[in-house]
Amino acid sequence: MSLLDLAARIARAARLTVLTGAGVSAASGVPTFRGAEGLWRRFRPEDLATPGAFVRDPRLVWEWYASRRAVVAGCHPNPAHEVLARWSHERGCRVVTQNVDDLHLRAGTRDVIRLHGSLWDLRCTGAAVPAPGTPVRGRATRCVHAWRDEHEPLPLPPTCPRCGALARPAIVWFGESLDEADVVAARNAAACDLFIAIGTSAIVYPAAGLLDDARRAGAVTAAINPEATPASSRVDVTVQGRAEEILPRLDLLLAS
Ligand code: OAD
Repeated sequence: MSLLDLAARIARAARLTVLTGAGVSAASGVPTFRGAEGLWRRFRPEDLATPGAFVRDPRLVWEWYASRRAVVAGCHPNPAHEVLARWSHERGCRVVTQNVDDLHLRAGTRDVIRLHGSLWDLRCTGAAVPAPGTPVRGRATRCVHAWRDEHEPLPLPPTCPRCGALARPAIVWFGESLDEADVVAARNAAACDLFIAIGTSAIVYPAAGLLDDARRAGAVTAAINPEATPASSRVDVTVQGRAEEILPRLDLLLAS
């Protein structure tokens, strides 16, 4: 299928959903995970992105996230983010992302579903401290305080402003489950007419499985990526190219 055909599909789709991965932010200067310069080529995820790593060395984990936050804070949305933001308003396009940067948000995208969390969200790991005057009954629960930190440099490791316990990044680590509400929202979004996976290696589940959910729901499926991925053979349409070039071209075709 040509780019023109894909543009025609987008124009006709009453329900359009895209799944984005690290490749969409690559042109903004945010490193991907598995490419030649990918983060997982230089760092071991088991040392930095698992609950066990955090228990062993919270400072090391936080230093890594602080350095990623510093990189992303200096990046800006690229034309791929900008086109998707416009489609979210003009075409009701649903954007489901695996990216923990905030570039879809900064581009103005509506109702982004952030499957893997956010570099700017933190949550407490401590035991609950009852509010003054609250009787403690039964087993102590955990402090569930969660908060957003807007690009401020953090004291490392940061602590919960409510109970003083260690804070962790509100990011889904290896071996952890995704937030159930996000999974439900993403599966609902996958029930669409046209589902496009953009800039993802499509090997991390459950995100990669959304493609199959979409297909089962009767959607036409497409992938935009400069390289072949496990998704390439499962989709109806593959477009070989960079998100920041292909999306503006599609957008131009839609306007003509
Ligand atoms: P990966 O790093 O696994 O894959 C990035 C994909 O983007 C590759 O297939 C590249 O070919 C493609 N790519 C590179 N430059 C591109 C460009 N300019 N335009 C379009 N595509 C481009 O990243 P993800 O698939 O997002 O998990 O990885 C999934 C998850 O694995 C991440 O969310 C992360 C990681 O562990 C968490 O942080 C929880």
